[in-house]
Amino acid sequence: MLEKVEELMVKHIESLKDSKSLELFGKVPSGKRLRAKLILKIASSSDEAIKLASIVELIHAASLLHDDVIDDALTRRGVASINSTFGNKTAIMLGDILYSKGFSELTSLPQDVAYSISSAVTQLSIGELLDVELSSTFNEDLDAYFDMIYKKTASLIEASAFSAALLAKKDAKRYGIYGKNLGLAFQIIDDILDITQSQEVLGKPALNDFKEGKTTLPYLYMYNDLNDKEKEQLRSYFKKELSEEESMWIKKKMAQTNAINRSIEYAKKLGFEALEMIKEENSPELEKIIKEMIVREF
Ligand code: IPE
Ligand code: IPE
Ligand code: MG
Ligand code: MG
Ligand code: MG
Repeated sequence: MLEKVEELMVKHIESLKDSKSLELFGKVPSGKRLRAKLILKIASSSDEAIKLASIVELIHAASLLHDDVIDDALTRRGVASINSTFGNKTAIMLGDILYSKGFSELTSLPQDVAYSISSAVTQLSIGELLDVELSSTFNEDLDAYFDMIYKKTASLIEASAFSAALLAKKDAKRYGIYGKNLGLAFQIIDDILDITQSQEVLGKPALNDFKEGKTTLPYLYMYNDLNDKEKEQLRSYFKKELSEEESMWIKKKMAQTNAINRSIEYAKKLGFEALEMIKEENSPELEKIIKEMIVREF
């Protein structure tokens, strides 16, 4: 069924009748398609569900095009990012083309679905803005971090699960909460993988978050456990190109404070909370999705 989603995404762009857009879109590889899989699992593979999945993946791709400009990221999905090959201007406009095409296609779905997804994109953008603002100084506020990741990542996953449930006439509220917790866990895992994985495995830059000024959950947990002198040391590394020795120091402190494991545990807890919401559905498929999104390597 995922093939149908892929085909429809290309059709959406072909219908624009603009060769440049189609050419550039051809240079955006497929990702894991987790949002599409989630929608198809909840709403099975009706035509509307396939359409919703294709729209959400277009929107998600648009958000990544903009995100790589924001994060100065030179790789994405295992290849050079659009901004690194064609420049920021092209990446921004291709992002706008994908976003707006996603929105116009949404108008052919039920209005509550269209409203849920488009509002989530507003939240995503507010979240990306918050992420930029939070990284202008060394953020040590856990609540601000959670609010930001809810908006930038969980909101679209929440809306995807909610909308898929609407299409399938299931309990949309419950699925929304499932999606929200899943989305929060998903971003925490993404933030952990930035620290623990290599660029080769991730297909995108590794150890990029702290360099961009982002104190993600493992950094926040670690920071809280450092003594004053160590806190000062970590702050002095803020937005700096780190030497091997400095990176090693951070990794050592991460290990000493058990910050990575504590972050994984927190993500797992959110995963369980997600499952709790839909346990009456008795769906091993949805449990599998939680596992895929949490216990993953890239
Ligand atoms: C990356 O999302 C951005 C985040 C919200 C963490 P994915 O990890 O789903 O990216 P792709 O689609 O598989 O490339
Ligand atoms: C991006 O978060 C979330 C959105 C695209 C809205 P990240 O900046 O952590 O995503 P990656 O790590 O670049 O995929
Ligand atoms: Mg990024
Ligand atoms: Mg980002
Ligand atoms: Mg990331």
